[in-house]
Amino acid sequence: MGVFMSVHDPFPSDLLSYVGTLFAPENAALSRLTAAARAAKMPEGWEITPDVGKTMELLCRAIGARRALEFGTLAGHSAYWLAQGVGPEGRVVSIEIQPDYAAAATAALRDVGLGDRVQVRIGAAWDMTEALAAEIEAGAARFDAIFLDADKARYPEFLEWAPRVLRPGGLLFADNVLRADSWRGQTLLDPKSDDPRILAIRRFNKSLATHPDFTAMILPMRAGLAVGLYRPGD
Ligand SMILES: C[S@@+](CC[C@H](N)C(=O)[O-])C[C@H]1O[C@@H](n2cnc3c(N)ncnc32)[C@H](O)[C@@H]1O
Repeated sequence: MGVFMSVHDPFPSDLLSYVGTLFAPENAALSRLTAAARAAKMPEGWEITPDVGKTMELLCRAIGARRALEFGTLAGHSAYWLAQGVGPEGRVVSIEIQPDYAAAATAALRDVGLGDRVQVRIGAAWDMTEALAAEIEAGAARFDAIFLDADKARYPEFLEWAPRVLRPGGLLFADNVLRADSWRGQTLLDPKSDDPRILAIRRFNKSLATHPDFTAMILPMRAGLAVGLYRPGD
């Protein structure tokens, strides 16, 4: 007897790879970034996968994004996808705490033709937030999209901060809102889980889901991608 698959079951990997191959295939630029990651001895598997990246590109294009901000550069994979989303006239600011990762990503992004579009800044994500908000208050354009992918124990604080720099109609993305390899086997829904990142992500997900100024959803792709549309006063 064949295996019955309900529409409520998670998708099997052959269907997921069918989607990835069709809509977000590997390309020479992504391979170059991956080679830079290996050469710089970055941890493997930390970068977003092309299906997640293509989804962010699509949503950035849908809102006509021109300026994107991300926390957590690694080798530049998500910066690459945000750069596709903001287009040739757009700009991406990417924050990375590790100077050697920032240098490797800067070089690799330049090699794939995105040197003018992506600026990698070195620093600790939360420590950069005041300076970023000050730039906006001094007249710089607000960001159309923000991607959170570092300092996950502070996701709730980043959510509170985001309206200072995000334009109305802009998007907030956050990765690992359902799971992460680094959670040492603990899970989001187990009440006994005590990893500070899990506790923070539970608070983040609840705040985003109920936030009066965001219309939000979690896309259950890979590690879980939160997407929030910032529409204050709607
Ligand atoms: C999950 S990886 C980012 C992956 C990247 N967004 C991508 O998809 O290609 C997290 C990155 O954030 C950096 N990081 C960790 N803590 C940080 C912090 N407090 N501030 C800024 N960057 C941080 C790490 O060095 C690492 O490069």
